[in-house]
Amino acid sequence: MTTIVANMGGVTGPELAQTFNAASADFERVTPLVWGPAAQALVCELRIAPGERVLDVCSGTGASALAAAMAVGPVGGVHAIDIAGDLLAVAQQSASGRGLRNVTFEEADITDWRGPNGAYDALACSYGVFFLPEMDAACARLVEFVRPGGRIGVTVWRRGALEDYVRIFGETLKRFMDTDGPPRRSPWEDNIVRIDEPASISEWLRELGLVEPQAVVFPNYVPLTEKFAWDFVRGSGMRGALLGFRAETVEQIRSAFLTELRRRDLTTVDASTIVATAARAR
Ligand SMILES: C[S@@+](CC[C@H](N)C(=O)[O-])C[C@H]1O[C@@H](n2cnc3c(N)ncnc32)[C@H](O)[C@@H]1O
Repeated sequence: MTTIVANMGGVTGPELAQTFNAASADFERVTPLVWGPAAQALVCELRIAPGERVLDVCSGTGASALAAAMAVGPVGGVHAIDIAGDLLAVAQQSASGRGLRNVTFEEADITDWRGPNGAYDALACSYGVFFLPEMDAACARLVEFVRPGGRIGVTVWRRGALEDYVRIFGETLKRFMDTDGPPRRSPWEDNIVRIDEPASISEWLRELGLVEPQAVVFPNYVPLTEKFAWDFVRGSGMRGALLGFRAETVEQIRSAFLTELRRRDLTTVDASTIVATAARAR
């Protein structure tokens, strides 16, 4: 994904919380096709074992937290943190529905969360690190929560992922915006492109002081039904772009976007992802 679009989503913690809270009712629609499969891949690559303690950050509705909770089993435990409480409420409901008692959820900004240092066997963050302002410093701090020899795993978009879909959405959106000013580029867009290839994310993990970085590509080409096309806008960070528009205008944006996707004959969304892991030195 190169550039996203003007004013798509917030920049500060409270703005991001507002964006993702707004998406809470729709987030789970995207889970079976995007968030869920990547979360399973992340838990698998992290080699989560029964009895382990896992810290899951930027947990959203719990895709990786719940997968990790099933991997650690009843003796292990997962602590899941997100800045958007409405998403965590959905996650808590899913955990209860599955009978999972080994996962706890906490609403907090992970950049200033004070947790126990060295207490976790593994840290998981699926599609979250790039949202953290001062990404490197924030992640260096997160690493401290993992014991020496423990593992850190993240998923990020692979270079080129979402590109056509997001560009068409951005172009559509622009027609409804009354500003001709320069697009506001979010810091997280810069973060995304810094770590969107196996080599660059492995290097980034090394720069965080981690060892044995591994990055695998998880290809995921989602068929672009009209339902998915709009669910993905509503159930992701793109939702932020719709905040502030009246309901009638949002409906016009939806209709124009779907028309444009048809006109350009886009049939697939490339949601390919990199699953990267590394270990904290002993
Ligand atoms: C794209 S969603 C991914 C959610 C989940 N990991 C998944 O894969 O389904 C990004 C998540 O990061 C959370 N987030 C962003 N900045 C955060 C921060 N500073 N502290 C905690 N959570 C944050 C958002 O609220 C959102 O739930």
